Amino acid sequence: MSTNKEILAFNEDIGSAARFYMQHWMWVSETGFLIHPHVPLNRENLKIADIACGTGIWLVDLAKKVPETSQLDGFDISSAHFPPREWLPQNINLSILDASAPLLDQLVGKYDIVHIGRIVFFIRNEDPSIFLKNFIKLLKPGGYLCWDELDAGAMRPVPVSSSVQHPFCDKMDRFGRAWFTAHGLSSNWVGTLDKTLQDFGLEVIDFKRIPISNAMAKPWTITQLMATQDFIENDIIPSCEGKEGRPSAEEWREMVRNVIAECQKGVKLAMDIVYVVGKTHA
Ligand SMILES: C[S@@+](CC[C@H](N)C(=O)[O-])C[C@H]1O[C@@H](n2cnc3c(N)ncnc32)[C@H](O)[C@@H]1O
Repeated sequence: MSTNKEILAFNEDIGSAARFYMQHWMWVSETGFLIHPHVPLNRENLKIADIACGTGIWLVDLAKKVPETSQLDGFDISSAHFPPREWLPQNINLSILDASAPLLDQLVGKYDIVHIGRIVFFIRNEDPSIFLKNFIKLLKPGGYLCWDELDAGAMRPVPVSSSVQHPFCDKMDRFGRAWFTAHGLSSNWVGTLDKTLQDFGLEVIDFKRIPISNAMAKPWTITQLMATQDFIENDIIPSCEGKEGRPSAEEWREMVRNVIAECQKGVKLAMDIVYVVGKTHA
């Protein structure tokens, strides 16, 4: 089984950064909000953390919506996509942190709001609890946890009409699903995140699953194709090399080329986005 460290290689090139930016803006466009409207922002000295912040773009956009006295802290296991400090609003700080490791005491109970965006590929064996325990520890009593996630397992090829054939998309779907399952990266846990938050003592304020709209299907499919291409090149091909019964590197690349061609003819990679908002007891 590959480790998160190996999978991180796939996340550190500039193509990944471009995808993170695009997904962030598409997400806001699809849900209609940057932060859930039930989360109060009209207070001075708010402390807000964005965990697995990637490029920091969620905080950069949030800085326009909160009082200037807010402290906005972004954390990620890698600083590969952090913009230079000089380019960020003065109240944003980005630092390295492994959100699955024990927290430093000074972070415990510090934040009014903790946001997490799209860490599905880093949660192993359907168990988000190591991360979730830390997210909750970061919060003050009465604090809000806002978790935006992709139900990657719900991804499926959908043709615009029955006349559009998609055998390679189907093949990739089967192979991809088998690979993700074998590597402990299934995402069924996303669909029950509300129950999980309740089990950990949070009050669930809202929980929704939204299919990507047809209006967003084209750019969403393009970003998924870019991610698939990178993932196959950097993670799947190396893990299949020399193993009997697995597609060769050339077979994987051929599959990707054909999948892209099918999508260009009118197949979307449909997927659901899921968000949950929970509140700790005051
Ligand atoms: C798909 S990106 C999402 C980035 C950002 N939240 C966004 O929506 O643009 C996933 C991020 O999770 C980070 N990550 C993975 N494992 C992590 C961990 N254990 N602790 C903190 N960050 C982690 C990766 O480095 C990457 O930046």
